[in-house]
Amino acid sequence: MSREKVLSLLLEQGDRYVSGEAMSRALGISRAAVWKAIEALRQEGYVIQSAPNRGYRLENAPDRVREGELSGPLAGCRVGGHLLCLETIDSTNTEAKRQAMAGAPDGLVIVSEEQTGGRGRRGRSFQSPKGKGLYLTALLRPRLDPSQVADITAWVAVAVCDGIEAACGVRPQIKWTNDLVLNGRKLCGILTELGLESESNDLDYLITGIGINVNHTPEDFDAEVRPIATSLAQELGHPVRRAQLAVEIIRALDRMYAQFPQNKQDYLERYRADCLTVGKQVQLITPAAREEAFAVAIDDDFRLVVEYPDGRRAALSAGEVSVRGMYGYV
Ligand code: BTN
Repeated sequence: MSREKVLSLLLEQGDRYVSGEAMSRALGISRAAVWKAIEALRQEGYVIQSAPNRGYRLENAPDRVREGELSGPLAGCRVGGHLLCLETIDSTNTEAKRQAMAGAPDGLVIVSEEQTGGRGRRGRSFQSPKGKGLYLTALLRPRLDPSQVADITAWVAVAVCDGIEAACGVRPQIKWTNDLVLNGRKLCGILTELGLESESNDLDYLITGIGINVNHTPEDFDAEVRPIATSLAQELGHPVRRAQLAVEIIRALDRMYAQFPQNKQDYLERYRADCLTVGKQVQLITPAAREEAFAVAIDDDFRLVVEYPDGRRAALSAGEVSVRGMYGYV
């Protein structure tokens, strides 16, 4: 769409003016189409200066996560090489599944301003108020066996920490397996799902959905979530441009994907460094019971090694684990 291309070009120019004629040449559209796109962007709240003989310059942009904001900085990336930026959707993960089944390419990233049915792990919902968070799903089609992608969600957690650090200068911690936590409160959840080919059981696609609380105020969370959740704006004391955060997250996912699964040692070491669970008393939560244990280590397969009070040890590859001192577990 011309509007996205014009926005991308204006952003690329930074402080410089660009003439309507230069834009029309660069984008292969008419001067009238450039003017129409500029007017439409202004209607959406973009402040675009125009000066005689100089052209147009972007002075101010609303906080929107859209293709025109992302496509320029992501040029050359595999993850984010195709973008679908939506106003509203039930769930970006569900949409990614629909797109995957319709043949969408490796690296497609879907973002939405809001989700009306955001999904979390274990059938929970993920609150996704409009314009507040970053709700993003990447569709990947690695040529690997399903058993070889078992730990990708841990790699994604490290990549998302990288992206948040690059955009905001703070590095969250990881609560095993993949909650990102800032100052003891949940900042981000990750939901990874696999699609298998029905006859062969080969991996068809993998989708990893990332939900980050960005500009939420405490009132944007439901009462039950409020005491345990936080947002980047709450912790930093200022709003965060979600498009810039999206760019850094997608770049980090792209770097991660290029190294997956060869560079396991690096991601494993960084996962261990970021993981707050190890060295803490934990509760292992199953539908039937809550079991006390001590988190000893992350093993070489990103599993959580726990020791029970009777000295038995076990390596957990999935499950719900509460950490003493967090989220109301005292
Ligand atoms: C969790 O904390 O249980 C995981 C939450 C994952 C939420 C993200 S938001 C983008 C993507 N779409 C969804 O419906 N869920 C994931």
